[in-house]
Order: sequence, then structure tokens, then C-alpha cells
Amino acid sequence: MDVLECIKTRRSIRLYQKRDVPNHLIGLILDAATRAPSAGNLQPWEFIVVRDPERKEMLWRASLKQDHVKHAPVVIVVCANVKKVAARYGKRGERLYAIQDTAAAIQNMMLAAHAIGLGTCWVGAFDEEEVKVACSIPEHIRPVALITVGYPAEKSSEPPRVPFENLTWIDFYENSKEPWEFGLKSLDAYVRELQLSIERKFDEFSKKKKKSSFLDELKKKFSPSKKK
Ligand SMILES: Cc1cc2nc3c(=O)[nH]c(=O)nc-3n(C[C@H](O)[C@H](O)[C@H](O)COP(=O)(O)O)c2cc1C
Repeated sequence: MDVLECIKTRRSIRLYQKRDVPNHLIGLILDAATRAPSAGNLQPWEFIVVRDPERKEMLWRASLKQDHVKHAPVVIVVCANVKKVAARYGKRGERLYAIQDTAAAIQNMMLAAHAIGLGTCWVGAFDEEEVKVACSIPEHIRPVALITVGYPAEKSSEPPRVPFENLTWIDFYENSKEPWEFGLKSLDAYVRELQLSIERKFDEFSKKKKKSSFLDELKKKFSPSKKK
């Protein structure tokens, strides 16, 4: 799956099959998380992979009893080490960079999971103190999100999106209020064009191959026999 298709087809999944997710796939998702950009490359993210039913039950209570938190085979508590970022960047680091960095890591995780056939849901509605107690998280570590992970048991369709044309201004805020032509083809058109050019190249390649095998046959047929 290419990256644009992955971005476009990812959906929040809240119903999961009963089967567990093997550790190597969780590792793949977490590896993707650590590839995210971070301010000063401080990489403030930390992860707690929760499978234990009792802890999951505590997380479920902490997250307003959202059922997918209890029923997902794996819940990853994604945390930010805010102290680490504050030490370099002060209040802005603590309040903004640490959270932005961790959010970028979370998006990487969700896309990686989707690319390998797993479903995820970002759960942000929870009581931080209760999550801290559930997973024995120390003071300087802030839980940013619970990510439920599992094999999807539902197909959800895309909730409506506001088109970027309605949210984008040129040069200064609220300039060019009308929906405007970007002068660029839509992403779909680009992807289609790319596919067509690959198909064309492939056709050319197979025609050449056919031509050369036909030539080989002719050579064999008409070359003077060595036996004579
Ligand atoms: C910061 C944040 C908090 C969220 N909190 C919750 C949540 O508590 N429970 C939930 O079911 N979904 C939650 N979501 C998922 C959103 O509802 C979902 O991303 C949105 O409806 C768009 O749907 P999509 O992910 O399928 O594109 C959250 C998403 C974000 C980014």
C-alpha cells in the first residue's frame, strides 16, 4: 500500500476480532512511531503495551468506559516525557513540543498499523490521573493517548472532511475566501498518472522482451547448423 492510499483509507476502528496481535507486529508499529520528527530530536515518547485484562479494565474506567478500550486485544498508552523537553525548551517545550512530537509518533503508529491490516483508535478522552495509577506512570511522564489495536471486526466509512480549499488562505489570513483552484491536480489524479506511466513502462518492457525472444527464435531457425 502506498503512503497516500494508507493515509486516505485509515479509519478509526472500534470493534476488534478476538485474536491477539503478535508482539513482532506491535514492535513494527512502535518502530514506526520512533521515526517521527521531534523538536531537537529529543524523542520524548514512551509506550506502555497493555494486554493484562485487569489493567485494561482500569483504563476502560479511566476513559469513560469506552468499550473498545476493554475489548481491544492491545492498548498502547502513549506517553510524553515532558521533563526531558522542558529541560531544553522550557514551558513551550513542555506544553507544546512534547505533545506535538508524541502526536506525530501516534499518527505514524496508526498508519503503520493500517498498512499491515490492523485497526486502531486514538482515545483521548480519559482521566490522566486514573491512567497514571492504572499503569504506575511516574509524575514527569504524561499519558497523551490510549491507542487501541487489533484486527478489525468492522468496516467504517470516512466521516465527512472539510475540503482543504475551505481552510486555506493565500499569503494572509482570510485572503481569497472563495474556494479556489490550487492549480494542481488532485492527489487522485497524480496517483492515477503514476500508475499509468508504470503500466506503460511495463508494456514497453514486455513488448521488447517479446521482440527479442522472436529474434532469438529466427536466429535459431536460420543459423547454419554446426553439424554440417
Ligand atoms: C486527540 C484525539 C482524541 C480522540 N479521542 C477519541 C476518544 O476518546 N474515543 C474515540 O472513540 N475516538 C477518539 N478519537 C478518534 C476520532 O473520533 C476520529 O479520529 C475522528 O472521528 C475521525 O475519524 P477517522 O479516524 O476514522 O478518520 C480521537 C482522535 C483524536 C485525534
